[in-house]
Amino acid sequence: MADMIGIILAAGKGTRMKSKLPKALHPICGKPMTRYVIDACKESGIETVVVVIGHGADQVREGLGDDVRYAVQEEQLGTGHACKEALLEIDADEGNVIVATGDTPLLAADVLRSLAENHVSSGSAATVLTAILDDAGHYGRIIRADDGSVRAIIEAKDCTPEQRAVREMNSGIYCFSLPLLRKYLDEIKPANAQGEYYLTDVIGLMVANGHKVSALVSDDTDIVLGINHRVDLAHLTSIVRQRILERLMLDGVTIIDPSSTYPDYDVQVGRDTVIYPMTVLEKGCRIGEGCIIGPSTRLVNVELGNEVTVLSSTIVDSTVGDGTRIGPFANIRPGCRIGRDVKIGDFVEAKNSEIGDSVSMAHLSYVGDSTVGERANIGAGTITCNYDGRTKNRTVIGKNAFIGSNSTLVAPVEIGDGAYVAAASAITENAPPDSLAIARSRQTVKEGWAKRRREERG
Ligand code: UD1
Ligand code: CA
Repeated sequence: MADMIGIILAAGKGTRMKSKLPKALHPICGKPMTRYVIDACKESGIETVVVVIGHGADQVREGLGDDVRYAVQEEQLGTGHACKEALLEIDADEGNVIVATGDTPLLAADVLRSLAENHVSSGSAATVLTAILDDAGHYGRIIRADDGSVRAIIEAKDCTPEQRAVREMNSGIYCFSLPLLRKYLDEIKPANAQGEYYLTDVIGLMVANGHKVSALVSDDTDIVLGINHRVDLAHLTSIVRQRILERLMLDGVTIIDPSSTYPDYDVQVGRDTVIYPMTVLEKGCRIGEGCIIGPSTRLVNVELGNEVTVLSSTIVDSTVGDGTRIGPFANIRPGCRIGRDVKIGDFVEAKNSEIGDSVSMAHLSYVGDSTVGERANIGAGTITCNYDGRTKNRTVIGKNAFIGSNSTLVAPVEIGDGAYVAAASAITENAPPDSLAIARSRQTVKEGWAKRRREERG
């Protein structure tokens, strides 16, 4: 497949999506839909892939990556016109080309390979990938002659009632002889319900001119499905998600309820990890072995070691060491490096902080822009005051330090190794190692005051 060229049509606005985001970039389990099509082409061995972009071209180019070539279709005059724009970018004048629509993300590499093999071995001018659906809906219909040969593809909007009843649909994925595609694309006319240059009309023209056109009927009726609106998007996302879940389960991960577990395409999870319901694992997550994740947990681009427990919590762009327990109800924001055997309990928020091994911050704390040394104990209600209204400042808490409950540490400030901060202190100055810092007014006790008050009232 190395000498095969791939063309992917993705210039359309995707009007039916009703979105500001170009359709090509709508993500499915964390990956833009058209990127799935590119990946299938690449995996099949196609080296040269030309993606036709137009609507939101700069954004689409940025979102799809720079390992493909781009052709720009300034005005979206139809799939035939888009294909012509791609051919302008291609010098070759012989051989074959695969053309795919950018909105069929379930397409797989092995299907592309068998499409190409069929095309070459049958000596066809064009080979169309088709499938038989119960109702071919909005898809183009494959019109065959009495002898079974393909005669034409007619768009649903242009079908007669009899044609509309045909169940064989056009997937929008084809293999063409490159020179013949060039030749017949010059001859198509926008004489149809939508006033567009249809790529599908090339099929009828080839047949009319005596060329052989074949169809490869896919047994798998999912891989040919396209996305035109958000109902399709949700449907195809559920199929992709099911495949990811199956991959994880076959790799040794227990997923208590696959129907309420949402992993993105690239997540990695180690063996014997158990994932409880309502867990979302977004792009970039790498989770070790023997972890317990969820219920009700969201992890985004997080690296977890082994035997980590995360319960009802959110962690974003952070790393967590082996044996650490987080939650319930912790919010770990970007930039945290959390060590091993750490305990982070309920209503703890951390941001851009290094938390050393065996630290305990069991309840109700905010730790931002901080370094917390090994085995430090952060009492309930500890707040690092990292923002002075203008800039963010760092708090450094030494190893084995003990921060008494309800203390505020006004950054920049440093608590030395082994130092104690008395409960309810407002710390504004550094505390040296092994010291005790007390920063609160002394308690006054008025003996007998309450009794006197009761007696006064009678
Ligand atoms: C197309 C096919 C239809 C097939 C279906 C499969 C045509 C005329 N129809 O219909 O037979 O069953 O796909 O999913 O080809 N595009 C451009 N430039 C344009 C117009 C479209 O690049 O000027 C791109 C779109 O971004 C999209 C793809 O081509 O990725 C298909 O266009 P779309 O409008 O979705 O075609 P369908 O109506 O789905
Ligand atoms: Ca479509």
